[in-house]
Amino acid sequence: MSEDGRQAPLTKKLFIKTYGCQMNVYDSQRMADVLAPLGYSLAASGEAADMVILNTCHIREKAAEKVYSELGRLRPLKEARRAGGGRMTVAVAGCVAQAEGEEILRRAPVVDLVLGPQSYQRLPELIARASRAAGERLAVDFDAVEKFDRLGAPRAVDGPSAYVTVQEGCDKFCTFCVVPYTRGAEWSRPAGQIVEETRALVRAGVREVTLLGQNVNAYRGAPPNGEAGCWGLAALVRRLARIDRLERIRFTTSHPADMDDALIAALGEEPKLMPYLHLPVQAGSDRVLAAMNRRHTAAEYEDVIARVRAARPDIAISGDFIVGFPGESEADFEATLALAERVRYASAFSFKYSPRPGTPAAASPGQTPEAEKARRLAALQGLLEAQQRAFNAAQIGRRLPVLFERAGKAAGQLHGRSPYLQAVHAPAPAGRALIGEIAEVEITAATRNSLTGRIVEPAPASDPAASPSVAGVA
Ligand code: SAH
Ligand code: SF4
Ligand code: F3S
Repeated sequence: MSEDGRQAPLTKKLFIKTYGCQMNVYDSQRMADVLAPLGYSLAASGEAADMVILNTCHIREKAAEKVYSELGRLRPLKEARRAGGGRMTVAVAGCVAQAEGEEILRRAPVVDLVLGPQSYQRLPELIARASRAAGERLAVDFDAVEKFDRLGAPRAVDGPSAYVTVQEGCDKFCTFCVVPYTRGAEWSRPAGQIVEETRALVRAGVREVTLLGQNVNAYRGAPPNGEAGCWGLAALVRRLARIDRLERIRFTTSHPADMDDALIAALGEEPKLMPYLHLPVQAGSDRVLAAMNRRHTAAEYEDVIARVRAARPDIAISGDFIVGFPGESEADFEATLALAERVRYASAFSFKYSPRPGTPAAASPGQTPEAEKARRLAALQGLLEAQQRAFNAAQIGRRLPVLFERAGKAAGQLHGRSPYLQAVHAPAPAGRALIGEIAEVEITAATRNSLTGRIVEPAPASDPAASPSVAGVA
């Protein structure tokens, strides 16, 4: 107690382990932000932590299984804490919590608390209850409005690039996917709230924001200042682009059926919007796309890509693929390879189909044998990796503006990102602090995963002449 009788905040250690997509990364940061005023500061491991949160992913079986093995590792740590007279609270958050919260509580007594993705604002209250060993241990309601109203500023900032969730949930119900069940219905944050959050990030040193949503281009948010109607993603991006000192805007993940003309035009016209589009296709066969309920054909997908490329010729296209969907024939799979050949991806993620409980495809006849899935995955990944190498190698000799994010792993190196989201390494120039700045880098070498180069001129973002990527923006 301090002299005036108030409880001085004790420093407590918080360890958060994050699985899955960027929305979970964002949520983990926000959980740390809500717990900071209670005296929790982030620790690098679960050892001796007062609070451990596993922020989990349910998308594929392997992702979901990791939770139980991690809980197994935490049990002796928790017991050791107790033996030493301390206490470790263990919480499971995220999409596994939402999907199988009751089962977690039944199977893993080490867990004190289970909370779904729309309950993080209640974390302080739930921890207090758990410490009294009474009351609610499971919070899995859907209330995105309350989540974002109550998870207000301030945000801790870690480097010049930050995520901002603008949309949650999904109404698409692809037949393989758990997200509509774990994240609930599509909901968009009001634009004014997003502008405020972004402004605060920029004041704290952020230069790049990535707008997040399970279906980010389905964004339909209330406009600021009580204007009527609603804003799509293009309007939101154009508004954010007016924020001074915000240099780069990205967004992910988009659905092909929601790529409207306004967004395609913004990709062509808005210099702060980076030339990179993650547009999952999943499969190249119309029969499989229909069985997946993707709501577009292969030709419609390629038409979107063609229109995006017409608007922004240098755009890097990235995608997601699933191989071995139930009923996928050899000819269907070859259609996927052929589509990838035609599109030429700069990067891509591909997965073996994983049957998920409660989704329609899991009960379909014609499940693909595991060995066949593995063979198809290897063939597709071989092609996509070659495309990624070619895209990276094509940068050799070019000068790219790179936003430097942190020191590299090797001594004297800086790590940053090109406009195309490639990792770039370059030797730090003597006497110049470039972290958080954009500098021109001449690319001298490329591998599948990164580029190497040398800094040819630091281009202060405030000097439009030196940084063509932000010239002419108010
Ligand atoms: N909303 C995004 C993707 C979210 S999930 C979209 O619609 O594209 C990220 C990726 O995981 C998906 O694009 C898909 O490729 C993969 N995925 C989802 N469910 C899967 C499953 N049951 N098995 C294998 N991969 C899956
Ligand atoms: Fe899942 Fe489909 Fe929604 Fe993407 S669009 S989150 S794949 S249901
Ligand atoms: Fe995984 Fe949930 Fe994201 S299932 S991919 S953490 S939305």
